[in-house]
Amino acid sequence: MLETAATHGLNEATRRSLQAVPKELPPVWLYDARGSRLYDEITRLPDYYLPRREAEILWARSSLISERTTARTLVELGSGSAPNTRFLLDALSGTLERYVPFDVSEQALQDSAEAIAAAYPAISVEPVVGDFERDLGDLPDAGPRLVAFLGSTIGNLYPTQRAAFLAALALELGDDDALLLGVDLVKDVGRLEAAYDDPWGVTEAFVRNALRATNRELEATFEQERFDYDPFWDPAHEWMDIGLRALESHVVSVRRLGLELAFAEGERLRVEISAKFRRETFELGLERAGLSPEAWWTDAADDFAVVLAHPPS
Ligand SMILES: C[S@@+](CC[C@H](N)C(=O)[O-])C[C@H]1O[C@@H](n2cnc3c(N)ncnc32)[C@H](O)[C@@H]1O
Repeated sequence: MLETAATHGLNEATRRSLQAVPKELPPVWLYDARGSRLYDEITRLPDYYLPRREAEILWARSSLISERTTARTLVELGSGSAPNTRFLLDALSGTLERYVPFDVSEQALQDSAEAIAAAYPAISVEPVVGDFERDLGDLPDAGPRLVAFLGSTIGNLYPTQRAAFLAALALELGDDDALLLGVDLVKDVGRLEAAYDDPWGVTEAFVRNALRATNRELEATFEQERFDYDPFWDPAHEWMDIGLRALESHVVSVRRLGLELAFAEGERLRVEISAKFRRETFELGLERAGLSPEAWWTDAADDFAVVLAHPPS
């Protein structure tokens, strides 16, 4: 397979992650076409409260968001199947000219762009395949822009990655632009762990899909039956640590990266974190990145927040 700049970047990130302690796979490997479909199934699971809480907030606040932003362009980073975007598309109908879904998962992006173009014929739908940690420069300029980052995808970034991402975004935003973030909040541990470990095994299949994807794309030799699914709450970092645990000591080859990975019995392979937030520290992070938090809206149960922020004027 030909190596492009994008695959080179991902391959190098994968090499570093697999050689780190603990071993890790970048979460981008979760989202091939199959993984994106599994994620959609997760959003419909009863214990995965996040999308429903976010929908509740957007339903109540989208008119206000529209008044405050008067966006001509809605950019959505990590748009996936864009389940909650219709609240924004409906509310912004008076000003919106274009919707730019932006995602690393090409098939999911294509499918959702087609569905939205059919449902909203008055706006131009202009999908961009890209990595929001690398390709923010590819966003269109026509402002005022509202950049939405929903589904608490920001929680999948480590604190240093998150700070770098927000700072890069702050530099991209013009005076008229705004940022809208969906963030999941710290809550009861039982509910958090249940959200990532459903009895039907859909979340497990989603996480294991990262092994299938690396086996296929990097000629790796991960064997599913040599790993257990192992999600847990990390109270020190306030994130869900989502991964797999080796059932026995063994070696995995990742041929395209020239790696031989020795797993000890019980050793973990982290696939994703999902950080949960508190208002004060989250807003401080926005300010440190050069963004001004303007509104913090939560659902009735205080499970989730939608945050509106601007570059400082
Ligand atoms: C947690 S899902 C959220 C999807 C959608 N926003 C929602 O609320 O249902 C994360 C989405 O971000 C995309 N994604 C993950 N890492 C990405 C990256 N580095 N660059 C662009 N998209 C990414 C995935 O393909 C997936 O569609």
